[in-house]
Amino acid sequence: MPTNGKGRLVTWLDDAYSMERALEHLLEQHAKDAEGHAEVHERLTRHLEETRRQAETVKGCVEELGGSVSRPKKAFAKFFGAGQAMTNKPLQDTLVKNAIADYAAEHFEIASYRALIDAAEQLGEAEVADKLRPILRQEEDMARFLEQHLPPVVHEQLGQGAS
Ligand SMILES: [Fe+2]
Repeated sequence: MPTNGKGRLVTWLDDAYSMERALEHLLEQHAKDAEGHAEVHERLTRHLEETRRQAETVKGCVEELGGSVSRPKKAFAKFFGAGQAMTNKPLQDTLVKNAIADYAAEHFEIASYRALIDAAEQLGEAEVADKLRPILRQEEDMARFLEQHLPPVVHEQLGQGAS
């Protein structure tokens, strides 16, 4: 395991790659769950495509630094709750839970990319930092969308559950 600065950056980028691959599965599930909500479904699908490209960009950064990505670590899938069956829960609960999980995931990503960009800059890896900045912007955009859409989803589901 490399312990110099560049080695650390490679390890962190490899973790970011695992994170993106885990979120790819999470977003696939959540986009499917939101099929009845056109705007949310469309936005989740768009971010799923962005996420796939982000994983490729991060992989490219790892390779540029002389490393190679490892098989995506299961710990990230677990952490983000990907693969958890929601089928036994009412749909309205699923949509609220998904929105909360996605909101948390985007902020985890924002923190991760801020740390990675900072590390890359400090190590003089300007090209890596330049490739990560657009990813950070995409995560911030997605977090903003979720921030705006969490209250309506909650209100809508509360309304549906009222008796
Ligand atoms: Fe991402």
